[in-house]
Amino acid sequence: MAAKIISGNEVSQQLKDEMKEEVAQMKAKGMAPCLAVILVGEDPASKVYVSNKKKACEYIGIRSLETVLPKDATTEQLLDVIDGYNKDKSVHGILCQLPLPKHIPETKILRAILPEKDVDCFHPFNVGLISIGEVRFLPCTPAGVIELIKRGGFETGGKDVAILGRSNIVGRPLSNMLDQRNMNATVIMCHTKTKNLKEKCLSADIIIAAIGVPEFLKGDMVKEGVVVIDVGINRVDAPGTERGWKLVGDVEYDAVKERAAAITPVPGGVGPMTIAMLMKNTLTAAYEQYGK
Ligand code: GUN
Repeated sequence: MAAKIISGNEVSQQLKDEMKEEVAQMKAKGMAPCLAVILVGEDPASKVYVSNKKKACEYIGIRSLETVLPKDATTEQLLDVIDGYNKDKSVHGILCQLPLPKHIPETKILRAILPEKDVDCFHPFNVGLISIGEVRFLPCTPAGVIELIKRGGFETGGKDVAILGRSNIVGRPLSNMLDQRNMNATVIMCHTKTKNLKEKCLSADIIIAAIGVPEFLKGDMVKEGVVVIDVGINRVDAPGTERGWKLVGDVEYDAVKERAAAITPVPGGVGPMTIAMLMKNTLTAAYEQYGK
């Protein structure tokens, strides 16, 4: 049977349309959700991400503010901007686009954002809340992964889920989320030192690949009927194409698709979901700060 292709483009559009209606209702009750985005420097990929976030805000009806600092801005300058947004009662969510220039300490910056405005869910306080199952925000990419599984028509309860990759942004929070009582998955956390990785993948009902290695998960590493979510975005050489490169995920797509019940594409899979979940967190932050 052909694998179901779970489209992040479609699911994220659905979510954005739902939120557009929700924001209209919020506004009718006097709430005006607002997201502030801070960009330091001129990184081209970061500029695209920030511009996409702004477009999503516009579409849904969320007010968005943007501060751009030069690449040689000091840590103190950045902390001042964050402090201003922390104190501004009309701002509900604050996001500082990563990566930051090397001279600025990321951990210090991420900890300066008030936990109730931390819509990326990177502050250790919010990370800690997830691990005790007391959730305020869900981190955007992991939340997007779970939404794709659910809206793709699959359950996690009682399933063995292999997560490839233990990053703080994807693998680690996903493992914390999936074995909570609302998800009830059994998590097999895999990383570079995991032994018998192929056997572990072959035993899994769901595989989430977030390892950062192009086409790492091969067709012979998955069982028939597996659900595969590919978080990877890797630029690889593609001689003979116009651009000379292409985007591939962490999954050998064509081979894995032959065995899978469902799979997400790259691009158009997890990528567009991250922004949709950021918008959701901004609404959550606004409700909380309006006391609703
Ligand atoms: N850079 C790449 N992805 C992200 C993200 O989800 N949040 C932030 N703040 N920066 C990023």
